Amino acid sequence: MAGLDVSALPPHLVLVGLPGVGKTTIGRGAAKSLARRFLDFDAEIERREGMPVREIFRERGEEHFRVLEAALTRELSTTGGMVLSPGGGWITQTESVELLRQAGRIIYLRAAPETVARRLRRVETRPLLAGRDPVVGLRELYEKRRGAYETADAVLDTERLSRQQLIAKVVELGLASG
Ligand code: S3P
Repeated sequence: MAGLDVSALPPHLVLVGLPGVGKTTIGRGAAKSLARRFLDFDAEIERREGMPVREIFRERGEEHFRVLEAALTRELSTTGGMVLSPGGGWITQTESVELLRQAGRIIYLRAAPETVARRLRRVETRPLLAGRDPVVGLRELYEKRRGAYETADAVLDTERLSRQQLIAKVVELGLASG
């Protein structure tokens, strides 16, 4: 973004966590309260590629999807001031995480896989969970990723806080970070 004075922008707020934990809902709500722009990575990638994420996975493979996620991250790392919701697997890409750790505050929305499975709708749109028992799939993802999720700057427990309380906490973190 040529000409943009990035140093004048507050850091991004980056919501991470398991698929279905509520990153999009909480992110959208917090962005509205903070009058900031909200960007959902999957929706943006689908818009750019002209096809749903599950088709990108099917036709071009997960590796290709991760390349698209990394490219979007690089672009966003030169800006600030947005509320971002990357897909649940973004956290496994160390380089991307380090880029947004510098340009943002990473907020982990925590929930046990069993809780997320109970809340989960639209399993069929999530290629890593489609066609299998969501509890088993989510447990697997959780075990692989929990260490990375826990490196976030802040952890919010979605099992103890209501949706409104979670939005309020993200807003608070946004106001505190400039
Ligand atoms: C993925 C999560 C999805 C999406 C893709 C891969 C993952 O996003 O990016 O299906 O690896 O956990 P949500 O977390 O928004 O479901």
